[in-house]
Amino acid sequence: MIALAIKLLLAYLVGSIVGSLVLGHLRGIDIRKAGSGNAGATNAFRTQGWTFALMVAAIDVGKGALAALVIARLDLFGQTPVAMSQASVGLACALAAAVGHCYPVWHGFRGGKAAGTLFGGVLALSAWLALAMLAVWLLVLASTGYVGLASVMAAVSFPIILLLTPLRADAALVLVAVAAAALLVWKHRANLARLRAGSEPRFQRARVLAR
Ligand code: G3P
Repeated sequence: MIALAIKLLLAYLVGSIVGSLVLGHLRGIDIRKAGSGNAGATNAFRTQGWTFALMVAAIDVGKGALAALVIARLDLFGQTPVAMSQASVGLACALAAAVGHCYPVWHGFRGGKAAGTLFGGVLALSAWLALAMLAVWLLVLASTGYVGLASVMAAVSFPIILLLTPLRADAALVLVAVAAAALLVWKHRANLARLRAGSEPRFQRARVLAR
């Protein structure tokens, strides 16, 4: 149990390294004071352009994968005496990294919404699951133009898609997936409120092509 707690803490600390805030610091900007105010790749693109956003996404997705693939597999005190599968420990570590991304200890607990970090964790768990989530994200984005809604739909579809695979037998994994989806919905509550009010900005394809 202690080994699992240490892994979760390590994952949280790594997740607290927020791509847009670290790279923004090097550039002399705080992305939380620009655009939507979110410290994520979407707002990085919105305010800084493609190159910056891609580097932000690489860091944020990468740390989710790192938590699931490396931190979750650390051999602490020999065997991990917890009745959890490696997959569920991996996803739990990715979720801890996502919590770090949302509430980063290194950046005054004001981070992003963790869609990229969670995606990195899912990618580490199963490339097929990650592809399915990406398909949902792209479909919603292409049909509505709302990135926030696309992230929420992809997050909600994650435990549902998981239940359609043999991985549904892993109850701990399903539970962590539901918790991860809940975190993402909670972090997007302002986007959902703006959607209801009709004031959520759409992703501007023309601007994307121009950048
Ligand atoms: O993952 C963040 C994205 O879903 C929404 O970002 O900046 O439009 O709130 P933003």
